[in-house]
Amino acid sequence: MRQARHIAVVGGGVIGLSVAWWLADAGYPVTLVDPEPARGASWLAGGMLAPVTESWPGEEDALELGSASLDRWPAFAAKLAEAADDPGLRREGTLALAVDSADVGTLDLLADHLRDLGRDVTRLTPRELRALEPGLSPSVRSGLHVPGDLAVDNRALLDSLYSACVRTGVDFVTQQARTIDGGAVHLADESTVECAAVVLSAGAWSGRLHPALSVVRPVKGEILRLKARPGTLPAPTRTIRAHVESRPVYLVPRAGGLVLGATQHDVGFDEEVTVGGVRDLLRDAERVLPGIAEYALTETAAGLRAGSPDNLPIIGWVAPGVLAATGHHRNGLLLAPVTAEAVLALLREEDVPARVRAADPSRFGVGVAR
Ligand code: GLY
Repeated sequence: MRQARHIAVVGGGVIGLSVAWWLADAGYPVTLVDPEPARGASWLAGGMLAPVTESWPGEEDALELGSASLDRWPAFAAKLAEAADDPGLRREGTLALAVDSADVGTLDLLADHLRDLGRDVTRLTPRELRALEPGLSPSVRSGLHVPGDLAVDNRALLDSLYSACVRTGVDFVTQQARTIDGGAVHLADESTVECAAVVLSAGAWSGRLHPALSVVRPVKGEILRLKARPGTLPAPTRTIRAHVESRPVYLVPRAGGLVLGATQHDVGFDEEVTVGGVRDLLRDAERVLPGIAEYALTETAAGLRAGSPDNLPIIGWVAPGVLAATGHHRNGLLLAPVTAEAVLALLREEDVPARVRAADPSRFGVGVAR
């Protein structure tokens, strides 16, 4: 039975769950369709909420959108802790590091860019870096401290969002969506979820569900989990993002260990972990934190980010009754609060937060008025 305000959300990663919770909390009846909610790429994420260290000249819209969402994160986490469980926001900040002279050049460019934009960053010597994080290798030549870039435990976040959805009355349909239109989601078992509008948040698979989103492509990422063992140096307290001979690597602290990521490959829907991917990540991470050689390697995994041509998400109506909230690429967790708020505004026919306008689907010629 279709209700006038009934919304179907297709995709139960961090974006779909956040949207579903936000809409249900605002009084909408919501059905979330996903064969395995709270998993997928979000389950494999590093958990960095780091628009500043992620930024680069020419990507100012992404920095502004990410910063707008980061500003919302403390309130989002507090509301979630009240609705369900504490998602584990970490406020220790991020270090951006350089190993060889080309990496120092990259860091110089980032530092100059951020300084020009008036961002709060501090350049640190190797000695100052090791005073903050004693496990860092002497081969780290330079660093930036970015206190405002936060992190979250992605799995605690997903569990909490799932519980918050259940508690606010979101109905879960654990099936594959086969096709969608503005008034229905057609499921693999031939049944249908009827609705007033569909929010399409199916990540890398969004383009398979609606032709307007064919610009969304899978970007493979391999990621590892490491566990400290008795007698090993404790994991760093801050997120570490490094360039090692021009290859990016990040290490995000978790209780008792860290998440180490991530490769980035345009290879279609390939979710296999490769020997080379694991080797590269471990080699580069060890150059930064030699003590991890004694850690246990507890998990290797590969996931698919939802890439878009300009690395900005796609948030807006793409067909009558079909609202896209996808293409978040490396920043799904970061952008969850601002995306949920924007989707609610679009459904209410209100203005979206200013920075979300850069994510309008019309830039790919596919936006429609509701
Ligand atoms: N958010 C970091 C990544 O996608 O690897």
